[in-house]
Amino acid sequence: MKKRILTGDRPTGPLHLGHLVGSLQNRVTLQNEGNDVFVIISDFQVLTDRLDTKEVERNTFELLLDYLACGINPDKSTIFVQSRVPALAELFVYLSMLVSVSRAQTNPTVKEETKATAKGKMSLGMLGFPVSQAADILAFDTDVVPVGEDQLPHVEQARDAARTFNHVFGPTFKEPKALLSKMPRLMGLDAKQKMSKSRGNAIFLSDTKEEVLKKVKSATTDSGKDIVFDPEKKPAVSNLLQMYHLFSGKEIKAIEKMYEGKGYAPFKLDLAEVINAFLDPIRQTRAELAKDKTYLSLVLREGTVRAQEASETVMQKVRKHMHYDYPSIFHHGG
Ligand code: TRP
Repeated sequence: MKKRILTGDRPTGPLHLGHLVGSLQNRVTLQNEGNDVFVIISDFQVLTDRLDTKEVERNTFELLLDYLACGINPDKSTIFVQSRVPALAELFVYLSMLVSVSRAQTNPTVKEETKATAKGKMSLGMLGFPVSQAADILAFDTDVVPVGEDQLPHVEQARDAARTFNHVFGPTFKEPKALLSKMPRLMGLDAKQKMSKSRGNAIFLSDTKEEVLKKVKSATTDSGKDIVFDPEKKPAVSNLLQMYHLFSGKEIKAIEKMYEGKGYAPFKLDLAEVINAFLDPIRQTRAELAKDKTYLSLVLREGTVRAQEASETVMQKVRKHMHYDYPSIFHHGG
C-alpha cells in the first residue's frame, strides 16, 4: 500500500557516502516502490547550532543536487524548503503548548546540548526543535519516517505530540513510525567515528576523483598488513572492506581472496577506483544539473507548493478540531 513518507536533512553542507548508504538509497527505493515521499530541507533547524546563515541558501542547492544526482525524482517525490511552508511554524506553536518543559528536556539531543552549553545559555529554539520536527512530521499525515538511529528520540517525541493532541482535541493525527535503514552507518576514514562532515573523515558525493584517491590513500589502517574482515581486531580495514563490498557489489570473502598477501597499498588504490566508478555517474549528473539554476529553483518551488498544499489539508483539520477555523471571520454568509 502506498505510504506517506517524510524525512530530510539540514542544509549545512554536502552529503557523504554515509548518507548515501544510510539514507539516500533507502529514499530512492521507497520512492520507486510507489510511496509518496516528502523530503524536507530543514533550514529552520540550521539555526539550532549556528547563527551564521550566509551559507544556508548555497547549501540548500548543494543538498538538492545531491538528492537529484542520487535518484530522488522530483516528478515522484516532493522536495521542499521548511521555512517556506508556514503551516509548519503554525503547527509548532500549537504543539509546543502541549509539551512540558521537562518532557522537552528528556530528549537526548537536547539533554546533551544542555550539558554542553553554559548554564542558562541554551536557546529556547534548541529546547523546542524536536517539537518543531514533530510539526514537520505531523503536518503531512506521515506514516513512516526513515531516519538514522540518532533521530529515533525525535520520532518518539512526534508520536507523543500526536497522542497528546488527539487526546486533547480529538482524533486528528496518525502516530508516525520510524524506519531504520538496514545498512549500518559507515565509519569514517579515521575508523574511530561515524562518517561525518564535522569530523573531517568523510568522502563527499561531490568530491573529485583526485580528492577521493587522496582521502582513501590516507585512510587509517590497522597494524599488520593482512586484508581480512575482523571488526574486533581490525576495525579500520574491516570498514574499508565494507566500503569495497558496498560500492563494487563483490562479496567480502572474494575481496579478501583478491588481496591475499598483497598489503594495503594496492588495496587502497583499487578501493579508490571502486568508489570513483560508483560516484562517476552521480558526479556527472550533479555537474550537469548544477549548470541549470533555473531548473533547480523550479524543482524547489514546485515541491514547496505541493508541500504547502499537503500540509494545508492537514491544518484545516487541526484548526477545526481546535475551534481555530473561525469561519465567521473569513467567510461571508453561512
Ligand atoms: N533532524 C534531521 C537531521 O538532522 C532533519 C529533519 C528535519 C528531519 N525535520 C525532519 C528528519 C523530519 C525526519 C523528519 O537529519
